[in-house]
Amino acid sequence: MSIISDDNDFKSAVREKKNPVIKPEAIEPDKNFENCIRPKTFDNYIGQSALKDTIKITIEAAKKREQPLDHLLFYGPPGLGKTTLAGVIAQEMGVDIKITSAPALERPRDIIGILMSLQGGEILFIDEIHRLNKVAEEILYPAMEDFYLDMTTGKSQTVKTLRVPLPKFTLIGATTKAGELSGPLRDRFGIIHRLEFYTESELSQVIRRTAGILNIEIDEKGARAIARRSRGTPRIANRLVKRVSDFAIVKYNGKINEDIANESLDILKIDEYGLDRTDRSLLKLIIEKYDGGPVGIETIAAAIGEDVRTIEDVCEPFLLQAGLLQRTPRGRKVSPETYRHLGYKFAPVGAQQTSLFDK
Ligand SMILES: Nc1ncnc2c1ncn2[C@@H]1O[C@H](COP(=O)(O)OP(=O)(O)OP(=O)(O)O)[C@@H](O)[C@H]1O
Ligand SMILES: [Mg+2]
Repeated sequence: MSIISDDNDFKSAVREKKNPVIKPEAIEPDKNFENCIRPKTFDNYIGQSALKDTIKITIEAAKKREQPLDHLLFYGPPGLGKTTLAGVIAQEMGVDIKITSAPALERPRDIIGILMSLQGGEILFIDEIHRLNKVAEEILYPAMEDFYLDMTTGKSQTVKTLRVPLPKFTLIGATTKAGELSGPLRDRFGIIHRLEFYTESELSQVIRRTAGILNIEIDEKGARAIARRSRGTPRIANRLVKRVSDFAIVKYNGKINEDIANESLDILKIDEYGLDRTDRSLLKLIIEKYDGGPVGIETIAAAIGEDVRTIEDVCEPFLLQAGLLQRTPRGRKVSPETYRHLGYKFAPVGAQQTSLFDK
């Protein structure tokens, strides 16, 4: 796997400013840790079964036809396994993958350079693809569709367009914001798939696998206890297992069981929904100052000292999915479950919320 540029650099910059307890996006020192536990094959890639089944069939068909895979677009909140899946696909196809991210493709020559460096069948992975600029997008269109580049040479009247053929390649795009992708770009992907939050039992498999790789002893109930507070996100599950393990080593004999997991997660101020301080202050603000909402996202961001993008990309997806927050045309609102969870008495009348967690 050749890394052209850092696939997460712009995000760490955004989140570093306030990192209350734990956030699902990658931060520099965790890179090696992430790479060593990243699944490399479908067998180790836990959950997302509908998506895996679709991709397996596509891979088999592509191999039979001896053609590269269709272009794929993955979207979903941070830490659910988009980058990992791209690596798995490359491995299963037996081809190389080049990884880059849209902010690194600022000038036309950046994207042209990468496209021209591709070998037949290779995968080009572009992270945060919704941030591609218009020029880069337009260079990509013919490259994706018919595998050529339109290049211009000369000046003013002598300008000539040159059609440069490219080897057949597969583009895999990943984004946390599918809605911000331009229509023409989205339409050029053969497969578009949303990654789902993981269930408690899937996360406990992720945790046990990671614990195995890191030589951490953990029992089934201990893994479940961590899974329950991991916000449906494998990246968070992996971070928590490491932090709980530090705690177990210092205070106990190193082995993680349910009690140790719960005690250390309490100390880390991660509650039974996996909410951290930022999530809780966001929800409490809506309850205490705005009577449960609705209230505009900008107001919330200013009041809790976070930026709108961090709230939208990092905090909200899980809170919405867990039924603790609702998005309305007039702003954000909490649910009756939020009142209960945060220990408030008054519960406004609201729709029944579905819970993410296994019963
Ligand atoms: N299905 C899975 N099975 C096991 N581990 C997983 C799975 N998906 C993700 N992980 C773990 O979670 C970590 C984060 O995954 P990954 O970097 O692929 O997320 P992402 O969706 O690309 O996030 P971002 O949007 O921040 O780029 C990986 O290091 C990997 O170890
Ligand atoms: Mg990624």
